[in-house]
Amino acid sequence: MARYTVLDLAAWKKSGKPFAMLTAYDSTMASVFDQAGVPILLVGDSAGNNFLGHENTIPVTLDELISLSRAVVKGSERALVISDLPFGSYEASTQLALESSIRLLKEAGAAGVKLEGGVRVCEQVRALVNSGIPVMGHLGMTPQSVNAFGGFKVQGRDSKADEIIKDALALQEAGAFAIVLELIPAKLAKEITETLSIPTIGIGAGINCDGQVLVWTDLMGLTPKPPRFSRAYLNLRQEMAEAVGRWVLDVESGSFPSAKESFD
Ligand code: KIV
Repeated sequence: MARYTVLDLAAWKKSGKPFAMLTAYDSTMASVFDQAGVPILLVGDSAGNNFLGHENTIPVTLDELISLSRAVVKGSERALVISDLPFGSYEASTQLALESSIRLLKEAGAAGVKLEGGVRVCEQVRALVNSGIPVMGHLGMTPQSVNAFGGFKVQGRDSKADEIIKDALALQEAGAFAIVLELIPAKLAKEITETLSIPTIGIGAGINCDGQVLVWTDLMGLTPKPPRFSRAYLNLRQEMAEAVGRWVLDVESGSFPSAKESFD
């Protein structure tokens, strides 16, 4: 079966069908999420704090995201795979943005890229789209700007709302096929979603976005301190710890491996 494409997202927006996007950082999880029917897998730079042990997304490199994206593409068959452009791989020039994105498409097999920012990155978005690279925007609490925001805080309250609306319109005009709205008031996300002809994908942005995205470790209950906007569908951290603990006890008591788990 063919993979989902950016055209499917446009059709879902038009028909009013809400859709899901989930992060993935490796091939095993990608295959599970693909099997579960997740139509869009985002190889987010949230791999920095959820997979690589960093405090935030800033240290993540392009080479790291290429490796992770390649694994996610290999592990999935049906999902549209979008890769993040990490901090430092697109801001300085359209040339840099093009070179980084081309690597994600050629070396990893990603179907498109996501970058953070509005008006300030529209030149890059235009250049990528003109080169045939689908671009997803990202506005609101953009984690690569956490130092400028002074922490992970709701953005777009009061007078700042107009700025985010302006950024969203600029991204749409530059050719972005969708925009992630992160940690903004639900009312503002609703207004942006109703104003734009391209889909919005919310995370901590309320129910009125066209799609919703979560970080997979939050959804599975692996994250020790999950954000308020996420929902854990499993308590995987505890279940895994208990399973590993049982195996350690079996090794220590001499009951693993059994004869059945050994060879003559
Ligand atoms: O890096 C990421 O996983 C993201 C999502 C949270 C939208 O940008």
